[in-house]
Formats: sequence, C-alpha cells, structure tokens
Amino acid sequence: MRDAIGILDSGVGGISLLRSAVRYLPNENFIFYGDNRNAPYGPRPFDEIRELSAAAVDALLNQGVKALALGCNTITAAYAEQLRSIVHIPVIGMEPALKPASQVRKNGIVLAMATRATLSLDRFARLMGLYGEGVIPLEGVGLVELVESGRADSAEAHDALAAIFAPYLGEQVDAIVLGCTHYPFLRRQIESFFPGVPIFDGMDGTAQQLKRRLAEEGLLTKRTTPGEIEFQSSGGPEYIELMKRLFAGGAGGHVLPRRDDELPAP
Ligand code: DGL
Repeated sequence: MRDAIGILDSGVGGISLLRSAVRYLPNENFIFYGDNRNAPYGPRPFDEIRELSAAAVDALLNQGVKALALGCNTITAAYAEQLRSIVHIPVIGMEPALKPASQVRKNGIVLAMATRATLSLDRFARLMGLYGEGVIPLEGVGLVELVESGRADSAEAHDALAAIFAPYLGEQVDAIVLGCTHYPFLRRQIESFFPGVPIFDGMDGTAQQLKRRLAEEGLLTKRTTPGEIEFQSSGGPEYIELMKRLFAGGAGGHVLPRRDDELPAP
C-alpha cells in the first residue's frame, strides 16, 4: 500500500491506537501489523522483546511505510530509543499516561496497569520519578492473553480483573492508567470495579502526536477521501478476523470511540 503509516503491536492491542489514529487522520492509509504468533511480549526477557520488536518493525519497513506508530507500551519501553537511532522516518511511541492521571489525583491512589516489561524498564522508573506520587504499578497478569483470544467480554476476564484489583477495592482510587494497548478492550469490565473513576489510556494524545509529527515532516497525505486500512498478522487468519472485529467495535471494542465520534479538544 502506498504512502501508508505503519502501526505495530505484539498482537491486537494496537488496534485501540489505530482507532484513535483513524479519527485524527481519516484520509491516511494505514498498515496494522500484529505479531500475534509471539504475543504476549510483556512477560519475556528484555533481549527477546527487542529481537521480536526489531523483526516486527522490519515487516513494516519492508513495505515502505512513511512513519511508524508503536501501538505498544512494551515495545516503546524496550526498543523505541534504539529504533529511532537506526531509522530515518518518524517513530511515535506510547507510554503509560501517568502525567494526566497525576493531575486529577486527590488524596487517593492511582492504579497504573501495564505489562511486567513496561513496569520494570527504565522509562517507567523515569515516569514514576516525575508523576509517581500515590501511583501503584499493577501488572495485568493474564489480560493480554484474554484479549488475544477474543475473550475481553468474558467471565474469565472479569475473574482475572477481580484478582488483580482485590487489594484495592476498599481504597480511594482517584484514577486508573491503562498502560498497555490491550487493556482498553477491557475498559467496560474495569469500569464496573471502579464506577466513575477516570481512566487514562493515552490513545488520543498519541494520535495527536502522530498527526503533529507528520505535519512537521510534510508527510500528511494530500488525499481528500478516506484512506484504506490493511490488517496483517504473523499469526493465522483468525487474528485478522479478530483485528477487524475489534476495529469495528466488537469483542469489547464497543466502548472505544468510534470513527465518526466527535474529537476531544487538543
Ligand atoms: N499491547 C502491548 C502494550 O501496550 C503489550 C502486550 C504484550 O504483553 O505483548 O504494552
């Protein structure tokens, strides 16, 4: 596909970023690549994550994408810096949205959910140094696997979340950060444990950043008609089906903003 933006994830999670990106950049072409064969990345050793990330990035670079958006906090934490030093196209990463969450915090706690790798890498430690007051890092054990297998809306997902949240149910929780792109597909289930608590997933900020970078580099498309989206996976065709379902709003994706929803103010 000509003139496309590549969006990358270990699996289907980055579809949550793709959905935001398409709302901000409706006329762009996108190639979404999920390394479903190797997901989840989060529990793997750091070196292995870097190797897998490099191979997944190559799959997109080989198709001549004009920019890369890492729709994955884990890949960003493990590989973004190195990647930026070797490619000559814009690379947009994601990190857990601790900053906006810290701005709404009162006297309670902020639950920062992410993968084991994201929580243990330096980048997160830096964020904690800046915005970490009252923040409890929380590994989303088993959640990526549930989303990858199309079970975001299941009773198993509810039970997995219940186990993760159990120690905090009686506490004053002021905000929740979804620091993994798979977790927005569990948003409705997460909300049911903490009704009314603001949730930050960083999607709109990242999509806006992507748009800004493309504009700065003169890379925005001149097309005035809607772009195309191609879904690709290192796994089987069932993942392409799941990607399309999540993109369209099924399998838990229905709680995410839709293509024609109004955009929030920048
Ligand atoms: N979706 C990815 C993220 O944002 C990670 C999922 C995984 O563990 O592979 O961190």
